[in-house]
Amino acid sequence: MFRSIESPKSRVRVIVDGREIEADVAASVAAALLGAGMTAVRRSVVGGEPRAPYCLMGICFECLVTIDGVQNRQACMVPVRDGMVISSQRGARTMEVGGQ
Ligand code: FES
Repeated sequence: MFRSIESPKSRVRVIVDGREIEADVAASVAAALLGAGMTAVRRSVVGGEPRAPYCLMGICFECLVTIDGVQNRQACMVPVRDGMVISSQRGARTMEVGGQ
């Protein structure tokens, strides 16, 4: 469905929901996920509907994922890095009670 319009300069490997994918080193996490055919990156907080990156410029917050254990990262604003571990989110992020 999605593919780069340029030949990738070099590739990185990231883990997405336990599956290894390759992405262009210059891609955002959202572009890498879309390029790998992953169109739903999270589930909505209220109804659990699948949500996908929409604006790709940091405005809509539809692309929230967990990156290297940090929840609610905007996938469109974070460049991929070799070895990155990405997880789709289901519902709201967890909150630490009594945490900072
Ligand atoms: S796709 Fe809209 S904020 Fe990331």
